[in-house]
Amino acid sequence: MRFETIRGLTLPKIGFGTWTIGGEATPNPTVDSASMIVLRSALEVGYAHFDTAEYYAGGHAEELLGRAVRETKTKREDVLITTKVSPEHLSYDDVLKSCENSLRRLGMDYVDLYLIHWPRLWMNLKETFRALNKLVRDGKVRHLGVSNFKLKLLRQSQEYSETSILTDQVPYSLPNHLYVENGVIEYCQQNDILVTAYSPVKFRSIRANKVLGEVANAHSATPFQIALAWLVMQPRVITIPMSSNPAHIRENFDAADIELNADEIRRLNNAWKKSE
Ligand SMILES: NC(=O)c1ccc[n+]([C@@H]2O[C@H](COP(=O)([O-])OP(=O)(O)OC[C@H]3O[C@@H](n4cnc5c(N)ncnc54)[C@H](OP(=O)(O)O)[C@@H]3O)[C@@H](O)[C@H]2O)c1
Repeated sequence: MRFETIRGLTLPKIGFGTWTIGGEATPNPTVDSASMIVLRSALEVGYAHFDTAEYYAGGHAEELLGRAVRETKTKREDVLITTKVSPEHLSYDDVLKSCENSLRRLGMDYVDLYLIHWPRLWMNLKETFRALNKLVRDGKVRHLGVSNFKLKLLRQSQEYSETSILTDQVPYSLPNHLYVENGVIEYCQQNDILVTAYSPVKFRSIRANKVLGEVANAHSATPFQIALAWLVMQPRVITIPMSSNPAHIRENFDAADIELNADEIRRLNNAWKKSE
């Protein structure tokens, strides 16, 4: 595994997503045992950064994640937890309440990273950060970040946050260059902000792309592994793929160790013409 160290925090280049753990927009107890197998398997493989949100399965993903950490006897300090406050909870009081609820569901007394999940039209970002700053001062949150924020809001967040914004979590993958095109990726790289690339492998077209197939063959790897390696070869970029298949969970973890050469990176950069 390769790592990024930023402002004293060391994060693995490849972490684990939890969307669909415990349900989708609402809890679905019928998938609990399958979800626990997935989380245990990810912890056993060695994933040390988990991404969740109060929105995922209506909070149930956080409950299962906390349970899996305890059941595998993983020490709290050996795992990094990112969770997120939903756009409808961005008022001062709601942010504090949302964080308390997330901590209760996780069964933890702090989270490593707390993000605004999505910006909302007419939100009072200054007020939201007043609450987020309090959470950091109170020790409930170690670092702050945002998600799905474009440049203007990212810059405003930097202004309102008492501590450095650690990450902007955005969609970024071989077929999706939207946040390259809107300048966020470059801005983050130049300003010591981590890019957390979400949905890194979810595009079906990954499987069929000719260049990706050729690079994968050259490394005896799968196209999905190359898609992850391409992301994490980039400075200040980490990613959080999700899989419920134990073989894929292992493959994705191992992808961080694949070294692409300059020619392969150049070919992959041009393998998709524009964002899908
Ligand atoms: N901040 C946000 O707004 C936001 C939005 C979306 C997602 N996220 C976070 O990012 C995480 C990842 O994004 P995502 O879940 O949308 O997409 P993703 O991880 O890119 O893709 C998941 C899909 O890819 C398949 N897959 C994964 N690894 C594979 C492999 N090695 N070989 C073949 N298929 C593979 C999975 O199927 P199998 O289960 O069969 O492997 C699953 O269908 C989420 O879980 C969530 O934590 C955040």
